[in-house]
Amino acid sequence: MSRSAHPAGPRHADVLPEGRSAASTAPAEDLNALDPKVWAHTVARGADGVVTVGGLPVTQLAEEYGTPAYVLDEADFRDRARAWRTAFGADADVFYAGKAFLSRAVVRWLDEEGLNLDVCSGGELATALAAGMSAERIAFHGNNKSPEEIERAVRAGVGRIVLDSFQEIVRVAHIAQSLGKRQRVQIRITVGVEAHTHEFIATAHEDQKFGIPLAGGQAAEAVRRALQLDGLEVIGIHSHIGSQIFDMSGFEVAAHRVVGLLKDVRDEHGVELPEIDLGGGLGIAYTSDDDPREPHEIAKALTEIVTRECEAARLATPRISVEPGRAIVGPTAFTLYEVGTVKPLDGLRTYVSVDGGMSDNIRTALYDAEYSVALVSRASDAEPMLVRVVGKHCESGDIVVKDAFLPGDLAPGDLIAVPATGAYCRSMASNYNHALRPPVVSVRDGEARVIVRRETEEDLLRLDVG
Ligand code: LLP
Repeated sequence: MSRSAHPAGPRHADVLPEGRSAASTAPAEDLNALDPKVWAHTVARGADGVVTVGGLPVTQLAEEYGTPAYVLDEADFRDRARAWRTAFGADADVFYAGKAFLSRAVVRWLDEEGLNLDVCSGGELATALAAGMSAERIAFHGNNKSPEEIERAVRAGVGRIVLDSFQEIVRVAHIAQSLGKRQRVQIRITVGVEAHTHEFIATAHEDQKFGIPLAGGQAAEAVRRALQLDGLEVIGIHSHIGSQIFDMSGFEVAAHRVVGLLKDVRDEHGVELPEIDLGGGLGIAYTSDDDPREPHEIAKALTEIVTRECEAARLATPRISVEPGRAIVGPTAFTLYEVGTVKPLDGLRTYVSVDGGMSDNIRTALYDAEYSVALVSRASDAEPMLVRVVGKHCESGDIVVKDAFLPGDLAPGDLIAVPATGAYCRSMASNYNHALRPPVVSVRDGEARVIVRRETEEDLLRLDVG
């Protein structure tokens, strides 16, 4: 497969918010090869050169469903969900983070594979409930849940609400009490891990909108207040340290500090909180240079850290939960595009324009994220050419893949695919330039079905009521 490259010289050290290092500068070796690290499990190149997924040629998918389209490998999704579930076992819970990508079909797959679900808005909650997920297996997140959202979650009977501020502690308690309920809650804390000391997007340092800082005794004060309120049953502490993380040391620090708080709570109130949630954030491979951890390694590392810390603090080991989103859905989908124009710029690079862009994948523009790309409608032995894959939007920052190699005979009408777009692409898609958001087509055992349909101009005009 093609590899990311930075021939324009060294990049500024780590401008990626997720802190990934710059990718290799080595040119691609075999552009027809598909690195299993970045492609969904059932993706393969057939003898005729056409790439297949779930046994179906991408050419057929493009013909039936059009491009651009997100193509999701259902078997791969289920494999990854199951791998997380199995790795953590019966004494822990895996909450899939719906923000990465959510649809009713996905909720049903999760349900069948025994995972729980983390939602962070009324819309995500509605999708989960519409698909029949039992409310007690849902966790409700967010730093500014509206009173309506809270009421809906409490009425539905969600298994936990993760409290994010002092005001929310009171708000949720009040709403639960007025409904004659006692709501199970966790308190989200920021453990004070500094971004520049570890490789991840920080959501655990203090100067940001999420959580209640451990520093200065604020988290302890939050627990103190929550324990006094009749409408709340405090079941644990929550920490989410960031996203696209490869290094486990941040989790280690977080677990250490969360357990420290559990110990303080026990010493002050005589209460041992039974659960801790260590959030999501585990990284995936976007290019061949990324080396993500397997779920069983992550489960082992986290369980060992928590067990060790609890033994030292003489606490019973709490039930652990985690919230992977990207690590489950990210690698399971690719975006299929048709090449519209190929524009060589002498001495620079070749611009390849596709029929989508920043409206279906904002991550490159937003985070300077790196992606891979391959020609998928045929094989080619042409010399590699350095390309930038760009969209059709009215912005020069409308870049899908910044630097990669594709075969030099690439031409309009060819299909190219960008792997690892299952997470935070459809869920962050927009209608910029009145683009129609692409469908999500799931493929399994030689059959394809649309799980989220393509938007139409009618959809756009239906909202335009002026
Ligand atoms: N739990 C909480 C409380 C979260 O805030 C998040 C992600 C997750 C779990 C799941 O994290 P994951 O395992 O998917 O990394 N739009 C960005 C990522 C934002 C993540 C927000 N929170 C991106 O495209 O990289």
